[in-house]
Amino acid sequence: MHRILFALLLCVSLSLACDQWPNTTETKTTWWQCSSGPAQVVNVQPTDKSGKYEYPIKLTEPCLIQTTLNNPNTVYSSPGLKQTIKVASWNQFSCSWSNVPTFGLLTDIDACTNGVPCPIKTGNNQIVNLELDFSDTPAIINLLHNDKPYQLTYILHDDVSKEEICMSFQARCLTK
Ligand SMILES: *[C@@H]1O[C@H](CO)[C@@H](O)[C@H](O)[C@H]1NC(C)=O
Repeated sequence: MHRILFALLLCVSLSLACDQWPNTTETKTTWWQCSSGPAQVVNVQPTDKSGKYEYPIKLTEPCLIQTTLNNPNTVYSSPGLKQTIKVASWNQFSCSWSNVPTFGLLTDIDACTNGVPCPIKTGNNQIVNLELDFSDTPAIINLLHNDKPYQLTYILHDDVSKEEICMSFQARCLTK
């Protein structure tokens, strides 16, 4: 009897342990900048390919991370600009993010031929549409369960200036 009660309590406490949708991802994206500058990310908004606000994000089709950027110093361009995208899924039982393998497909790749509108010029409040296209990496998208929260860490590293723009965003994603 005690054992059943204990098991029951354990189930209840595990299911209460954390949110199904951390950081309000059920209804909207949460983002933050994970680099210190000089470029500053002012806003991040997910849109479809035509620039229309989209939520949840449909990862089965190319979409855009519409990023508003203040870029004071450096024009970033090919071939120096490299892109890395890290993907993490939400573990509802441990209340933490676990990395999803990306098989090197999204690590240190040429940014300008992989969805970044180059060159990224200097100037304030520029809208830079970063294309996100998982439809050409089935190995990755096949690992992602449908209609769950995901955390994407999007890093642009410029080999020339050694500067970096990093942003993390968490969003509800459709993968099927
Ligand atoms: C929620 O968002 C904040 C930034 O706004 C971040 O620091 C924190 O790690 C996020 N929490 C989770 C569970 O991901």
